[in-house]
Amino acid sequence: VGVDKETMTGTLYGLGVGPGDPELLTLKAHRILTASPVVAYPAPDTGESFARAIVAGFLRDSQIEVPIVVPMRTERFPASTVYDEAAKTIAGHLDAGRDVAVLCEGDPFFYGSFMYVFERLGRDYPCEIVPGVSSIMASAAALRRPLAARNDVLTVIPGPLPDDEMEARIASADAVAIMKVGRHFGRIRALLERFGLANQAGYCERVSLGEERILPLSAVTSDTVPYFSMILIYKGAEGWIRSLPAGRPTDAA
Ligand SMILES: C[S@@+](CC[C@H](N)C(=O)[O-])C[C@H]1O[C@@H](n2cnc3c(N)ncnc32)[C@H](O)[C@@H]1O
Repeated sequence: VGVDKETMTGTLYGLGVGPGDPELLTLKAHRILTASPVVAYPAPDTGESFARAIVAGFLRDSQIEVPIVVPMRTERFPASTVYDEAAKTIAGHLDAGRDVAVLCEGDPFFYGSFMYVFERLGRDYPCEIVPGVSSIMASAAALRRPLAARNDVLTVIPGPLPDDEMEARIASADAVAIMKVGRHFGRIRALLERFGLANQAGYCERVSLGEERILPLSAVTSDTVPYFSMILIYKGAEGWIRSLPAGRPTDAA
């Protein structure tokens, strides 16, 4: 009897799990997560996986977990041998007919780690991507300031970009999101001060989590900040600058 390969093969899911608050998981991601026999996620070599922690309350003991352990000290990303190995493990489950849900913090295709799995397996197996609430959207909501409107140009800048390139990109934008600020924070703050933009910049840390901190950029005095933080700047025509949070006394930097 002929066997339909489609029905034998598991489906690879790239699941966006949102910025941190489990309530920001979509219904679709929740359904697929709870129905998948195998759940894979990136994990640091020390400490717990952020993506897994977001959905921990929905996991069952019977699910097979595949941590993709990525050394966090290295500047080189993705760690390609780690993803090669993970792809082999995931392919084994798919070949055996088991669906695999690969968790990705925020949205899977917006600077998401899922794409390293996708580029290895996405064409050879049935694959579905479930978009997630991105940290940019969650940060604008937490800052209580719209991101962009009308013909505003929104520019997304990775923090490691060199100063000259960052300056050129900011100069031509109306709204800016600077991600992955982490240890680049002091340099970026100095650059924004030179530009006269520090008062229009909001600092958003661990958004949607219990430890969330939302502050005017100028209120953050340290030179390094956690990896899960970003800076939002608005320099367009709208009057939103007035709605930047004043910073609470308890939010000492
Ligand atoms: C590799 S990118 C992943 C982006 C993710 N796929 C998304 O859609 O949000 C990691 C960066 O996202 C931002 N980020 C992710 N979660 C965040 C959170 N809860 N609060 C603030 N920034 C966050 C930070 O700038 C961090 O350095």
